[in-house]
Amino acid sequence: MNPRHFISLLDLTSDEFRGLIHRAIALKNHRDPNYQPLKGQVLAMIFEKSSTRTRISFEAGMSHFGGNALFLSPRDTQLGRGEPLSDSAKVISSMVDGIMLRTNSHETVTTFAKYSSVPVINGLTDEQHPCQLLADMQTYFELRGDIQGKTVVWIGDGNNMCHSYIHAATVLDFTLHIASPAAYMPDAAIVAAAGERIKFFDTPIAAAHNADLIVTDVWASMGQEEEQKQREIAFKDYQVDAKVMQAAHPDALFMHCLPAHRGEEVSAEVIDGVQSVIFPEAENRLHAQKALLEFLLCKQ
Ligand code: CP
Ligand code: NVA
Repeated sequence: MNPRHFISLLDLTSDEFRGLIHRAIALKNHRDPNYQPLKGQVLAMIFEKSSTRTRISFEAGMSHFGGNALFLSPRDTQLGRGEPLSDSAKVISSMVDGIMLRTNSHETVTTFAKYSSVPVINGLTDEQHPCQLLADMQTYFELRGDIQGKTVVWIGDGNNMCHSYIHAATVLDFTLHIASPAAYMPDAAIVAAAGERIKFFDTPIAAAHNADLIVTDVWASMGQEEEQKQREIAFKDYQVDAKVMQAAHPDALFMHCLPAHRGEEVSAEVIDGVQSVIFPEAENRLHAQKALLEFLLCKQ
């Protein structure tokens, strides 16, 4: 039997996505130390790139549920010496109950999933970051209720986070306004598949009109550090500042997956201001990951 993987938000139905959000909220509000549904289970975590939130949330989540998490770096495993992904996936999955990967190439995760006998979770690739969206959507639901029919605004790079916001708009049925420089638009096929929910704007202020939620991310993602200077020039008119927030609804929220660069993609005034919910959003990575682990790994 093929295991259930979590590679993309499009792997979820809208009921499943909403179910995970409500479960994450319940797990957050009623922590029961005796509830250990993953007792004795092991999650392998393969990180080709750095992480604070993703690593800690999966590791703490497995501990809370009575299981264990193994941190594996390609530097210290045979993956870094070129062992085929198919062999690695078969071997690792024969010893653990789930595998989470953070990789440069999205294809690494899909290849792993093809050969793994246990669930594979995408902990970020160059194309998508679906786990972050579970936490972002949980945060919105907690503070404002269901996001269906609302207007979310993405400002900045058409990157992995932007792609997962496009997927979330499809599954949860909200409108997504995007303001990105012409050379940094999201992938055309991902946009096309989302249909009329996605609308493009020339400036952050134009995109922010009617916004219920404004989101941005770093201008240079992990692996793009050498492009930093060039990107600072390309994105200079794409900072989320007080003027952008003023164009949104007065009760609009501001989110950022973190880590953030104050003074670049967002002003300090906004990210540290009253509309910003970055710290509940970060904490919710833990609760959302636990809901996801329970959904994928619970065997009863
Ligand atoms: N937002 C996020 O994924 O953070 P980390 O890179 O710290 O895991
Ligand atoms: N777009 C960022 C997200 C980090 C959580 C990156 O890929 O580096």
